[in-house]
Amino acid sequence: MPQASKVLDRVLVLEMVRVTEAAAIAASTLTGRGDEKAADAAAVEAMRAALNELDMDGTVVIGEGERDEAPMLYIGEKVGTGNGPAIDIALDPLEGTTICAKSGPNSLAVLAIAEAGGLLNAPDVYMDKLAVGPGLPAGVIDLDRTPSQNIEAIAAAKGVRAQDIVACVLDRPRHEALIAELRALGCGVVLIGDGDVAGVIATSDPDTTIDVYMGSGGAPEGVLACAALRCVGGQFKGRLLFRNDDERARARQWGIEDLDRQYDLKELAKGDCIFAATGVTDGSLLEGVKRRRDKMTTESVVMRASSGTVRWVKGEHRIER
Ligand code: FBP
Repeated sequence: MPQASKVLDRVLVLEMVRVTEAAAIAASTLTGRGDEKAADAAAVEAMRAALNELDMDGTVVIGEGERDEAPMLYIGEKVGTGNGPAIDIALDPLEGTTICAKSGPNSLAVLAIAEAGGLLNAPDVYMDKLAVGPGLPAGVIDLDRTPSQNIEAIAAAKGVRAQDIVACVLDRPRHEALIAELRALGCGVVLIGDGDVAGVIATSDPDTTIDVYMGSGGAPEGVLACAALRCVGGQFKGRLLFRNDDERARARQWGIEDLDRQYDLKELAKGDCIFAATGVTDGSLLEGVKRRRDKMTTESVVMRASSGTVRWVKGEHRIER
């Protein structure tokens, strides 16, 4: 059987784009239609069908939920033809279901793969997240420091004032105190309605002007964002947040013993990994699917941690009538 790393290299990099394209195209038929569930279901079905054509022995480690709650792409589901190396897969066929339903910005079809054991088996709980882009000294961010201390450290590392720093935060009542603290410092706060995978990745792109991502969101989305940051550079700190004993018990079931641990980027996505995404709606990372009379266009990105290669892929797909 071929080594996983060779196969990641040779075959799967571009094949992954077909998978995210398929999910994005399926979801795009329901963009702006106000039906989150239908859009998600369309993306899930299309992503699963495309994954099952790939020559690999894939296991979903981050997916649509546990087996009893998700009929397709559940955690532990085997995907691929079964011929090939053992590969772990983290996926979100439609990241930003509400965004897609409302036709807002930054809804994506997302997929990350790694050699078996490379991606943290994150339960579907919240994660406290802190992320910055590349080029800053190691250790500049730390979840054990206050938001103000982190902002001061980032500003000092960039040689700017705290009020020059722009933070991206999910617009949620639970972030009221965080937002107030950032505004008291004079920081710019970019509030996003949903879609923190794109929010975290935005820290790595100077054109977004976002210096730091802060606040809590889904843990699975945190692992997906880490796979991307491993490829483009940057730092990430994450800590799982539990709302009740049931969530704690679930994490233990997944083999997580230290529930208060602060994870680093390479603990959430380690070894070689590949991240791919296709835009469903226009956003900071990618253009969304554009449907015209006889064709559709897609924009995707696929990147690999070991080489740091980032490929942008424009697709033109004929619409058969
Ligand atoms: P969905 O695609 O599952 O709707 O997730 C969207 C999202 O905004 C994620 O990007 C984010 O991590 C999470 O929801 C935040 O959760 P909540 O909406 O409960 O604050």
